[in-house]
Amino acid sequence: MQATRDGFEMPRHVAIIMDGNGRWAAARGLPRVEGHRRGVEALRKTVRAASDLGIAVLTIFSFSSENWSRPQSEIRDLLALLRRFIRNDLADLHKSNVRVRIIGERDDLSGDIRSLLEEAEDLTRGNDGLVLVVAFNYGARQEIARAARRLAIEVAAGRLSAEAITPELLARQLDLPDLPDPDVIIRTSGEQRLSNFLLWQAAYSELVFVPINWPDFDRATLESAIAEYRRRERRFGGLIAQTGS
Ligand code: IPE
Ligand code: IPE
Ligand code: MG
Repeated sequence: MQATRDGFEMPRHVAIIMDGNGRWAAARGLPRVEGHRRGVEALRKTVRAASDLGIAVLTIFSFSSENWSRPQSEIRDLLALLRRFIRNDLADLHKSNVRVRIIGERDDLSGDIRSLLEEAEDLTRGNDGLVLVVAFNYGARQEIARAARRLAIEVAAGRLSAEAITPELLARQLDLPDLPDPDVIIRTSGEQRLSNFLLWQAAYSELVFVPINWPDFDRATLESAIAEYRRRERRFGGLIAQTGS
């Protein structure tokens, strides 16, 4: 956590599972894609709020490895929204000093999506404001398997001994080894599960489940989720912080 100007402690890394777009739309008799569109607006507000609040890293789950099992038409809509988001918002994000980073499997994405993701990373590489991590075509088990595969290659080549493999060494092979683990993972829509999101990094994250659908999320909901996080007592397997030695 880091202290802000007003003395409150802010989580350094907030991760969000943006869920419930479809239900938001269904509740209004609208097509699911309308929920996804409104979800992008909620995302814009949330990025601005996170930046203003002095959060260092915001990770958002935007498309999971398992979301490919949805109908083709919905996948097309989601990919179109991602393209539009990068084309329309990248310049603004850059102007706001946001650094965009991407996690997930890129190899099986189409060339145009891959280049857009690379463009977002390249343009904003030098920015030192909010780090916006976009989890796209992301699955935590896949990420951990990729890391294990890299270590196995090193062992097979004789450059690493199997005994040298520790949690720290494996963590260094994950998609963004230099970022701190999320302090808090927020999930909207009322579902209380991780759905293959950041399983390794979530070992000691606080989980906050909010009962509203993602398109209704805004600065106030972010602040109240952070307030809930602040009420938690983190122990990391030890005892409550004691004074003295
Ligand atoms: C989140 O909303 C967006 C993605 C998973 C891409 P959903 O599309 O999962 O909405 P619900 O959960 O069906 O309401
Ligand atoms: C998780 O939501 C993935 C994203 C928010 C991108 P899902 O809607 O895919 O998760 P499940 O299927 O309800 O577990
Ligand atoms: Mg969902």
